Amino acid sequence: MTNSGKKYKTGYTCGVFDLFHVGHLNLLERCKEMCEVLIVGVCDDDYVRNIKKKEPVFKEDERVRIIGALRCVDSAVLVDTETTNDKMLAIEKLHFDVLFSGDDWKGSERYKKTEEQFAKIGAAIEYLPYTTGISTTELKSKIKG
Ligand code: CTP
Repeated sequence: MTNSGKKYKTGYTCGVFDLFHVGHLNLLERCKEMCEVLIVGVCDDDYVRNIKKKEPVFKEDERVRIIGALRCVDSAVLVDTETTNDKMLAIEKLHFDVLFSGDDWKGSERYKKTEEQFAKIGAAIEYLPYTTGISTTELKSKIKG
């Protein structure tokens, strides 16, 4: 527990955050309830194109500005594919105590590996509830009609 009563000092989460919506806000507000300083990694356009196989609606610089302007976010940083996929690289660069992730990732091979790696260096992972009924993909298809 920190002086301010939060569980962690510095927290980190990352995502694409395209067409910012209330599911994103719920996640980021929950993260900030648990840490004093919240750093958010915003995946770059190459990651969205090459890994998610989608064209971002809002470009990386705009997505970083939107996330960085939120009251619950202390710092928004652009992250490349390597840093998105390898959370050890992220922790080496950004020095956080806890990684927050949507609970849709819990149990996946990638996160099982990250849990093992983080346990060795005394870093934590907290899974937060995914907001049902909304996503960037759903918004896009609603808009298209
Ligand atoms: N997230 C969430 N609840 C939602 C949508 C997203 O908690 N309804 C969380 C994800 O778990 C992730 C972060 O927000 O930690 C960024 O998610 P992102 O993939 O950018 O958002 P989606 O709306 O899920 O985008 P897509 O439909 O393109 O997968």
